Amino acid sequence: MKSFTVAISGASGSVYGIRLIEELLKSVDSVYVCISSQAFSIIKMETGIHLAGKTAAETEKKIQKHFSSKKVRYFSESNLAAPIASGSFRTGGMFVVPCSMKTLSGIAHGYANTLIARAADVVLKEGRKLILSPREMPFNEIHLENMLKLARMGTRIAPPIPAFYQKPKDLNDMVDFVVGKILDSAGIDHDLFTRWE
Ligand SMILES: Cc1cc2nc3c(=O)[nH]c(=O)nc-3n(C[C@H](O)[C@H](O)[C@H](O)COP(=O)(O)O)c2cc1C
Repeated sequence: MKSFTVAISGASGSVYGIRLIEELLKSVDSVYVCISSQAFSIIKMETGIHLAGKTAAETEKKIQKHFSSKKVRYFSESNLAAPIASGSFRTGGMFVVPCSMKTLSGIAHGYANTLIARAADVVLKEGRKLILSPREMPFNEIHLENMLKLARMGTRIAPPIPAFYQKPKDLNDMVDFVVGKILDSAGIDHDLFTRWE
């Protein structure tokens, strides 16, 4: 299936979600994007990228301009009638990168009050790929239980933890390594890092 959903929730590490969308656009037909209101602020604070418009249509235009691609569609987190809120709309799966503990909890408990939680609920019920990149430090027992519950249901838990054996030269290398590992979790090809031989 050549389309994926990418949700960016309000955890630190928004650059991973942005980089993931850039990379996915190289190999898929469509990327459906949902960004929580908190994530818009964090993206701006952490990366300087201002993606929020006054309306969903304006935000979609800004996002398409940022990624120089019309293959990106944007749906607001309150739009529970968006295509990705229904199981009959087929996608290859969904990434939540980064995934806040609040969004993790909503997904783990089926509390589908935002489009991010609803789209993840749909992906789970349809047996499609769900890849979460939970970001918090340290984790408490609630966070760990929520991750374990979802992992037992087949969700890939791919936290944004960099490695150092590939000798990163800069932050970009570290981001690319994490995004590469997230793509690996979905079986999507990339050349973001040199593999261990
Ligand atoms: C600058 C900033 C960084 C944050 N980083 C995290 C984080 O790494 N992980 C997390 O679970 N929450 C983090 N939070 C708190 C979440 O944004 C907050 O719980 C929010 O309700 C999450 O909503 P969302 O999941 O709908 O985006 C952060 C908040 C701010 C303002």
